[in-house]
Amino acid sequence: MKKMLAVLLCMVMVFSLAGCSGGSTSTSGKGKVDVGIVLPTKDEPRWLQDKEKFESVIKDTNYSVEVLFSQGSSANEKTNVETLIAKGIKVLIICAHDGAAAAASVEAAKAAGVTVIAYDRLITGTDAVDYYVTFDSVAVGEAMGKYLADNATGQGNPLYLYAGAATDNNAFLFFQGAWNILQPKIADGTFVIKNSAEATAVQGSKELTRDQLAAIIGQVTTNWDFNEAKSKAEAHLTAVSAADKGKCYVLAPNDGTARSIADVFAADSDVSEYFITGQDSEKASVQYVIDGKQSMTVFKDTRTLASDAMGMAITVMEGKEPQTDSTYNNEKVDVKAKQTPIIVVTKENVKEALIDSGYYKESDFTGLK
Ligand code: GAL
Repeated sequence: MKKMLAVLLCMVMVFSLAGCSGGSTSTSGKGKVDVGIVLPTKDEPRWLQDKEKFESVIKDTNYSVEVLFSQGSSANEKTNVETLIAKGIKVLIICAHDGAAAAASVEAAKAAGVTVIAYDRLITGTDAVDYYVTFDSVAVGEAMGKYLADNATGQGNPLYLYAGAATDNNAFLFFQGAWNILQPKIADGTFVIKNSAEATAVQGSKELTRDQLAAIIGQVTTNWDFNEAKSKAEAHLTAVSAADKGKCYVLAPNDGTARSIADVFAADSDVSEYFITGQDSEKASVQYVIDGKQSMTVFKDTRTLASDAMGMAITVMEGKEPQTDSTYNNEKVDVKAKQTPIIVVTKENVKEALIDSGYYKESDFTGLK
């Protein structure tokens, strides 16, 4: 009897999942939801990875969860949050499309008595964020900067800088982290910036203000968009002479943009070799790393981040205070945060970091030794 019930329950779940549309995944089925999760877009593999991990964590709990995607729109995001509030969520886990614009959504959630957990990206300019679950984003940028610096010898190496979207607070943290390592190497002549007058203008200062960072990001942003990254890289390589190419060093802010920028550098006959960073360990970039087309990626284990966020939500629903280990200022308050460490992945440790750890299957890739 018990077995039959379990089978029936599985069937009901399969049907209700299959019936979901508009990027929503509900484990509740009845319209009542305990934890609402809002992610920025389905169009970047990174967030699908997070969704998958959330779902695997959720399977082991008694709580119901619904995941909605905002598809790169703050208006959709607001509607998603309102939909979830109407379904009675107690906790909102939200990765904002635009960190400043999302303040209004989380204020609405807060007003409805919902506990707000900012996920991966901090929401700025509001006191309505209760917790922040994140990777150490400054460490991500530092790992990228260190990779480039460790692989550079001599003087005058051409450096090309790219950044994430200015609407994403992480883009600032990543860039500042990279700058912490690169700036002294620019100051001592190891690197010469080739594509950003704004960065060149402040190359004497290690600590950049938010406005200085915003000016650089404004100039070399990819907006986290492959196509924008590609056309910027093409324009930059067209604007410089052959002498500004040769062995190039490229700070690319994430895997999606790294692949498109790498393709542009690879196609330029004046580029003899290039080193390029990335982050997220997206499958396509892991293959690029194996093939020597992308030099490194930063592995952000979304299993840990998703389970930390769900763990925090469950603690809150049990009426307890979740554990945190740091704070992040969001331009209004210090938000209590839980940070997850990151791992640098190169050709040398790709198997150990991503396959042996069970994150991906060996059969997902070719040429892995
Ligand atoms: C960031 C996130 C990165 C990357 C990027 C592009 O906020 O921390 O891991 O995915 O967005 O969406």
